[in-house]
Amino acid sequence: MKGIILSGGTGSRLFPCTKITSKQLLPVYNRPMIFYPLNTLVKAGIKDILIIVAPERAGDYLNLLGSGKEFGVKLTYEIQDKPFGLPEAFIIGEQFIGNDNVAMILGDNIFEDDFTEEIKNFSIGAKIFAKKVKDPERFGVIKFDKNMKAEAIVEKPKEKISDYAITGLYLYDKRVVDIVKKLKPSPRGELEIVDVHNWFLDNAELDVVEVKNEWVDCGTFDSLLQAQILARERLQHLLVI
Ligand code: TTP
Repeated sequence: MKGIILSGGTGSRLFPCTKITSKQLLPVYNRPMIFYPLNTLVKAGIKDILIIVAPERAGDYLNLLGSGKEFGVKLTYEIQDKPFGLPEAFIIGEQFIGNDNVAMILGDNIFEDDFTEEIKNFSIGAKIFAKKVKDPERFGVIKFDKNMKAEAIVEKPKEKISDYAITGLYLYDKRVVDIVKKLKPSPRGELEIVDVHNWFLDNAELDVVEVKNEWVDCGTFDSLLQAQILARERLQHLLVI
């Protein structure tokens, strides 16, 4: 299993803090934000990790994380010229993925769970991770049927269809590259990760696992503050990097 950390984007909801740096380099308690998703992958045993960054921030990431030797992993870097949506990571990462499976984590997502077993047990299809939240309208959400089987997936639904948000960790087999190449941009002009999930759902190859412990997406000032507190109170002993 290879790993990708998607760490580009504009971070416009955190302006002006993100005017001169990348969101995922902002501090979350005592580490730059990206250390937490990197820690999640490293702890789960992933040794080969691609970090995708915006062009103007590439030097900062290289200075901060280097080759990865310090953390016992191999880090490589690629540029995303413009934020064209999460699935573009699999086009940018095509060579890197090769014939392997891939775990993609968003650079601003902070998890308390340990995913070692889920990653070890993954062989084919797609596996995504859902969490019950109070503000599902901020995320892609999953509607389950009465047997808790995924029934529908909708990006930022206006009307409430479920409390289950899709978190920013996704496992796919290598077919994801070809699936993404066939996607068309949505009306907001980006490739959408829900279209990838829906492809696997329609093929009955989507596995949904519930996240048991805390999860924070640091996209807003309030959630960033929540992440800082979580990091201080509950994550320090889980850090291996
Ligand atoms: P978002 O939070 O959706 O976007 P953003 O980080 O640009 O922030 P804002 O909406 O406030 O402008 O992105 C989720 C994660 O994915 C985040 O870590 C940035 C990353 N990302 C990319 O690297 N490239 C992209 O094209 C997009 C859309 C996001």
